[in-house]
Amino acid sequence: MRLTVRAELAAATAELAAAGVDSARVEAELLLSHVLGASRSRLLITETLSPQASARLRQLVSRRVTGVPVQHLTGAAPFRRLELAVGPGVFIPRPETELLIELAEPWLTPDATVVDLGAGSGAIALSVAREFPVARVIAVERSERALHWLRRNAADRQAAGDRPIEVLPGDIADAGLLAELAGEVSVVLANPPYVPESYRDQLPAEVAHDPAEAVFAGEDGLALMPAVIGLAARLLRPGGFLGIEHDQTHAEALTRLLNASGCWATVAGRPDLTGRPRFSTAVRG
Ligand SMILES: C[S@@+](CC[C@H](N)C(=O)[O-])C[C@H]1O[C@@H](n2cnc3c(N)ncnc32)[C@H](O)[C@@H]1O
Repeated sequence: MRLTVRAELAAATAELAAAGVDSARVEAELLLSHVLGASRSRLLITETLSPQASARLRQLVSRRVTGVPVQHLTGAAPFRRLELAVGPGVFIPRPETELLIELAEPWLTPDATVVDLGAGSGAIALSVAREFPVARVIAVERSERALHWLRRNAADRQAAGDRPIEVLPGDIADAGLLAELAGEVSVVLANPPYVPESYRDQLPAEVAHDPAEAVFAGEDGLALMPAVIGLAARLLRPGGFLGIEHDQTHAEALTRLLNASGCWATVAGRPDLTGRPRFSTAVRG
């Protein structure tokens, strides 16, 4: 017996929507594409599927309704022009982070050295390497489990013909990190952990699948920010650019921390596409 794609997608969408999944239809299509090994657009011209494929789809939908992120079920997360391999142990890149790269664009020139602090899957570093003709991209990450995914994505992108990046295991709080590049870096980008510990019980179920060290940063969520700002100030050349993603409630605190360090010529808060103050930028004085 063959089942119809249309009916299976409708059933999967209804089950996901009933469980509170926001983009239920899109996620149903992503899961079915994964099962069939076909693109989402290909689904439109596929009429039937086998009972085995249907059973596999239903299995994935039932895992999704328990809160497993769709990216862990398909093993892939889109980010700008890339599709990154992700799974347990690495932070799933979020669409809002894509904007951080746009803010840095005027500095992403052929002589630029770019450092991504807390690189996770490599979303920022690998997108910069793919899209801009920069001289060097260095991705710093502390977590061994995240480094596994970062190295895998870096190897995949290099094999696909992108500019290679350098993966550096290291701690943002290490004052000696990249000391040989002090005053020579053009761009530092960071999406560090920034969620206050006290929010732990209020977050969507999916966030529990991100590693805690990628999400939480002390009581107020600002624990790592002084280290990010201090390291960026040491690494950047005069005129170099720092871009940080942060919680929307942290904009004033970031401006205060940046101004207090006395290293920056200009400091600015930047909104995301919905107008929330989610980024802070600074140019090294
Ligand atoms: C919010 S995730 C961002 C990952 C990636 N940049 C992205 O935007 O998808 C933060 C990352 O910082 C890493 N991290 C946390 N503390 C760190 C530290 N002290 N030194 C280096 N990396 C750290 C985490 O392991 C995690 O991969």
